[in-house]
Amino acid sequence: MKKGQVFQARIEDLVYGGKGMARKDGEVVFLRGGLPGDLVEAQITKLKSGWSEAKIIKLLQPSPQRIRPACSHFGGCGGCKLQDLAYEAQLRFKARQVRDIFQRIGGFSNPPIKEIIRAEKRFFYRNKMEFTFSTFAGEPILGLHRAGSFSQVFDLKRCLLQSELSNEILAQVREFVRRRKLSVYDLRGHKGLLRFLTIREGKLTGEVMVSLVTADEKFLEMSELAQILADKFPQITSIFQIINPRKASIAQGEPKLSWGEPSITERIAEFSFSISPNSFFQTNPYQAAKLYGLVKGLSRLKGSETVIDLYSGTGSIGIYLARSARRVIGIESQEEAVIDARRNAELNGIGNCQFIQGEVREILPQLGKKPDLVVLDPPRAGMHPKAIDALLELHPPRIIYISCNPATQARDLTKICADGYGLKGVYPLDMFPHTYHIESVALVEKV
Ligand SMILES: C[S@@+](CC[C@H](N)C(=O)[O-])C[C@H]1O[C@@H](n2cnc3c(N)ncnc32)[C@H](O)[C@@H]1O
Repeated sequence: MKKGQVFQARIEDLVYGGKGMARKDGEVVFLRGGLPGDLVEAQITKLKSGWSEAKIIKLLQPSPQRIRPACSHFGGCGGCKLQDLAYEAQLRFKARQVRDIFQRIGGFSNPPIKEIIRAEKRFFYRNKMEFTFSTFAGEPILGLHRAGSFSQVFDLKRCLLQSELSNEILAQVREFVRRRKLSVYDLRGHKGLLRFLTIREGKLTGEVMVSLVTADEKFLEMSELAQILADKFPQITSIFQIINPRKASIAQGEPKLSWGEPSITERIAEFSFSISPNSFFQTNPYQAAKLYGLVKGLSRLKGSETVIDLYSGTGSIGIYLARSARRVIGIESQEEAVIDARRNAELNGIGNCQFIQGEVREILPQLGKKPDLVVLDPPRAGMHPKAIDALLELHPPRIIYISCNPATQARDLTKICADGYGLKGVYPLDMFPHTYHIESVALVEKV
């Protein structure tokens, strides 16, 4: 095959990242936007040893699993890449991905993958969105990243992931920024003020937090903007300016309360959780309730156990399990989240939870407590090898590993299972409908 070559192929499968996969003359070709069953005419754009990439020129015969995407930004937006794939097919793809990953990366020959837990609410399910400021033709724009780009942003009109209120707040902020000719942060030159707009919404409480992430503390118009937002949207309970002068393109930094309350509350099942602007919280509370219910079922707690909750965030899993155990110890590196977790235990009348601030790999070896169960939910990168060693030193009889990245989960579980544990079940859960992201819960037990 040559670069620029035009060919016809039938898409066979989807791969992680949401690209279609076809074969041409025995070689694997990845095609953005291709769905299993599509017959396409495509052109090779990139050649590598053993695989290549192609762009679809013409859809000759659409897959029977194709549906009409609901969002007008579909195709250009990097968000919901699977919106044109029927939901049942999305679920099959995700479940198969988890099996492939556990076989290929984890080396588990026949992993016990259980039925994927589906989402009932497939639009407007997110309680948090981060929108990025950029410029186009000299004008400030505010939106999401373009598909396949880390730096390009498009001006968002309406997103179907959070709420109509969130769309209205975004439009209001953009109008203000344009009218007052405010400067936008430039990723290359590291100059300019506005970086991100984060909207957090307690889906089950109606409380809303708006955060403007700026590169500089000096933002004279912030109080005027906060007042406009507070007057126009009575649902807003909290407005922050978050200062991030660092080059790292993240919507976190030094929080400065501009208006209202310092945190908002969200509910999962019968529990309330107070969340500060920088703290992690499950973004889909409807599926989080199912996730925590699943963890509780797998935990088989009787009331006498010591549970360790690693990477505990705002304490939500530990608090959810606390009434079924003797005590829960959470470990979390972010100070704000630990403060939230302690407040959340109090808020829910839970007295047997303790939250320790620090890195898991540093705190765990000093803990000196033998747990009956360890629940862990690390970030996408998975566990640090020293954290795994420290976990294995404690010899917990059962471990429940929750992950938003089955690849690192499978990698870590290989190491854990090599130390005398058996993989009892892997439960995929659709936390993010229409995206290729997959949540997965694994139960391992000492053999
Ligand atoms: C995926 S979140 C899980 C939070 C929580 N379990 C929940 O369900 O909401 C991962 C958490 O791990 C924390 N974290 C990241 N690296 C860590 C480390 N090395 N040690 C302790 N906590 C860490 C993050 O701040 C974040 O709160």
